Amino acid sequence: MAAALSHLLWVLLMLPPPAFTQTPSTIKMGSTLSTNQNSSWVSPSGEFAFGFHPLGGRNLFLLAIWFDKIPEKTIVWSANGDGPVQEGSKVELSNGQLVLNDHQGRDVWRAASNGTATSAAMLDTGNFVLLGSGSVYIWESFAHPTDTILPNQPLRPSMTLSSCAPETNYSSGRFRLRLQEGNLELYTVALPSKNPYEAYWSSNTADGAQVVFNQTGYIYLALKNGSRFNLTKGNMVSTREFYQRATLDYDGVFRQYIYQKNQSNSGLWGESWSPMLLEPPDICLTDPVNLGGVCGFNSYCKLDGDKPRCLCPTRYIHLDMNNAFKGCKPDFIPESCGTDGSEFVMEEMINTDWPLSDFETIHPWMKTSVEKLAWETVSVQ
Ligand SMILES: *[C@@H]1O[C@H](CO)[C@@H](O)[C@H](O)[C@H]1NC(C)=O
Ligand SMILES: *[C@@H]1O[C@H](CO)[C@@H](O)[C@H](O)[C@H]1NC(C)=O
Ligand SMILES: *[C@@H]1O[C@H](CO)[C@@H](O)[C@H](O)[C@H]1NC(C)=O
Ligand SMILES: *[C@@H]1O[C@H](CO)[C@@H](O)[C@H](O)[C@H]1NC(C)=O
Ligand SMILES: *[C@@H]1O[C@H](CO)[C@@H](O)[C@H](O)[C@H]1NC(C)=O
Ligand SMILES: *[C@@H]1O[C@H](CO)[C@@H](O)[C@H](O)[C@H]1NC(C)=O
Ligand SMILES: *[C@@H]1O[C@H](CO)[C@@H](O)[C@H](O)[C@H]1NC(C)=O
Repeated sequence: MAAALSHLLWVLLMLPPPAFTQTPSTIKMGSTLSTNQNSSWVSPSGEFAFGFHPLGGRNLFLLAIWFDKIPEKTIVWSANGDGPVQEGSKVELSNGQLVLNDHQGRDVWRAASNGTATSAAMLDTGNFVLLGSGSVYIWESFAHPTDTILPNQPLRPSMTLSSCAPETNYSSGRFRLRLQEGNLELYTVALPSKNPYEAYWSSNTADGAQVVFNQTGYIYLALKNGSRFNLTKGNMVSTREFYQRATLDYDGVFRQYIYQKNQSNSGLWGESWSPMLLEPPDICLTDPVNLGGVCGFNSYCKLDGDKPRCLCPTRYIHLDMNNAFKGCKPDFIPESCGTDGSEFVMEEMINTDWPLSDFETIHPWMKTSVEKLAWETVSVQ
């Protein structure tokens, strides 16, 4: 019996140690990640990872932070959304700096800190930080959001969320969210000039201090007088049981998403992100004040569930078949005046509004080189 026990003990002792595939939470000077290694720096809980995220089979990579425990590895931050790098690129923590070099060794991005880092860490909150002497954060991804905020991540007046372009290749799209003069505002920019248009949604608070996404999963604008402007409506689920994020989506809607952590309990929610609308409730109706429109020129917008569908009027077709948000163009040779008028056809569109019914005026100082004179977007109610 004793022999059997000692034999068992022996077998147990002979077992190999568990494989720790995770990098320890403190990332030391001299550490590197490369696209070839397929490695990442993972937070202690394993919920978030920092590293190279491949972009759908095109040999292109983003330096990003993502939810590492869910199959789709949803990206919450990226350094180079507008300029993905190729295989052979690497990111290096050296000489007190975090630098991304592309496959030709060119320095394409670096964390803009004004100090010298002594180490880095991927935190369980999803915040990637560079630590200086005395362990102060000299740079943090939370201070440079892209299209998403996470619980515990504040959105302060100097920060802007930018939607991704609809092709989901992570280059920045036309929509922005920022806190400006106490108002939380959603607005569009002209591309490629990036000149801002008027806000298409505003909290109209005038004394907002910062957006808070708290531990309980509530998102609100904290006002300077201590009141709260709620963005999350109704009851929220806990951040213990659900992954959560709030993203300015490619369609200009700011949505909060939840994802059940324990997939054994996922019956109700499924293995995906469930959206909860924040603002605006109907992007199509919000559209009119937004010169430029959610659907682009010559198009109209129809709400389908909580998502906008971008459609073309009769005899118009989408400019880009793969991206309905780019607007429409005539599918006929433009007619001109001076004929007897028989070539012109008027069509009635039921339940369709054409707000402000005018053409966009392009001023030279707006440099909207791409967006030529065209119709505004109309919306279907
Ligand atoms: C990289 O990791 C992914 C996901 O774990 C895996 O599918 C892929 O085969 C890996 N590639 C290499 C080159 O190791
Ligand atoms: C630079 O460092 C100072 C002192 O730590 C800090 O107050 C300031 O915000 C930093 N500036 C930037 C751009 O990081
Ligand atoms: C991203 O999409 C835009 C628009 O389709 C395209 O011009 C650009 O080349 C794409 N970038 C990458 C890296 O695929
Ligand atoms: C704070 O200001 C908002 C308007 O900006 C107002 O609705 C609210 O009642 C104020 N709260 C207090 C406590 O004064
Ligand atoms: C989060 O905000 C909600 C709504 O304002 C509040 O009810 C809740 O107590 C807050 N949770 C924490 C942890 O502060
Ligand atoms: C904001 O949400 C909190 C928590 O749900 C609630 O107690 C509070 O009454 C809400 N405030 C407003 C103005 O609706
Ligand atoms: C996940 O949920 C199942 C069923 O409720 C439970 O048995 C299991 O212990 C849970 N797992 C974790 C890691 O909480």
